[in-house]
Amino acid sequence: MPWMTINGIKVQYRDGETVLAAARSGGMEIPSLCFHPGLGHHGSCRLCLVEILAGGRPGLAASCALPAAQGLVVEAGSERVIQSRRMVLGLLLARSPEAKPLRELSEKLGALEFPPRPDTRGCVLCGLCVRACRAVGQNAINFSGRGRSRRVTVPFDLPPGDCLGCRACENVCPAGAIKVVESRGRIAILPWQSELETVCCSKCGAAMGSRPQWESLEKLFSPSLLRAGLCPACRRRLQAAFHG
Ligand code: FES
Repeated sequence: MPWMTINGIKVQYRDGETVLAAARSGGMEIPSLCFHPGLGHHGSCRLCLVEILAGGRPGLAASCALPAAQGLVVEAGSERVIQSRRMVLGLLLARSPEAKPLRELSEKLGALEFPPRPDTRGCVLCGLCVRACRAVGQNAINFSGRGRSRRVTVPFDLPPGDCLGCRACENVCPAGAIKVVESRGRIAILPWQSELETVCCSKCGAAMGSRPQWESLEKLFSPSLLRAGLCPACRRRLQAAFHG
């Protein structure tokens, strides 16, 4: 198996693995935010920085996007890395002061202080919601703008016709920036101005997701099972009764 050096320790890696993956399989800790094992890397948060000392272009690089390579030597805890990470963490906290993972990291690593950015709605621009929507939903949201006006939004800032209401964006957001309100048979995903009908179980009345999400499931699974309009718990009870 090929190997590289992280923090002075030889670490083996598999072909195609990144430095972040190699470090983690070697039991080393490197913080990350915008990387997700199921959604890949985006290289935007810069929390996973490492310093390349040999075997590559010297300098700082995001380890989540840096391919592991034979002879590569990196430091994940050098003074330069620590100072850069504190600055990055401070800038992210200025965008989203309440984000739990950022607060926990700042208690552990320290963070520089920057004036708060009230114009961000708590979004850290990690892009996880955009990638989750692409992978699970209907590609209903995306980045727009540049520099300080960069944000995640819906086309033309209008309620997106494509939103399934699957809540993948909410589930994956590390900053808690995507607020969802459910009431009176409707589900509203506030940042996208998306408001959809909720489907309820025909037996117990439990909410089972939005109408478009339910209809997209019908395409994948047995329509007859879904058409019965039963939630998973009621369906299991019915099947158990049927099989005696
Ligand atoms: Fe690597 Fe965000 S986790 S840049």
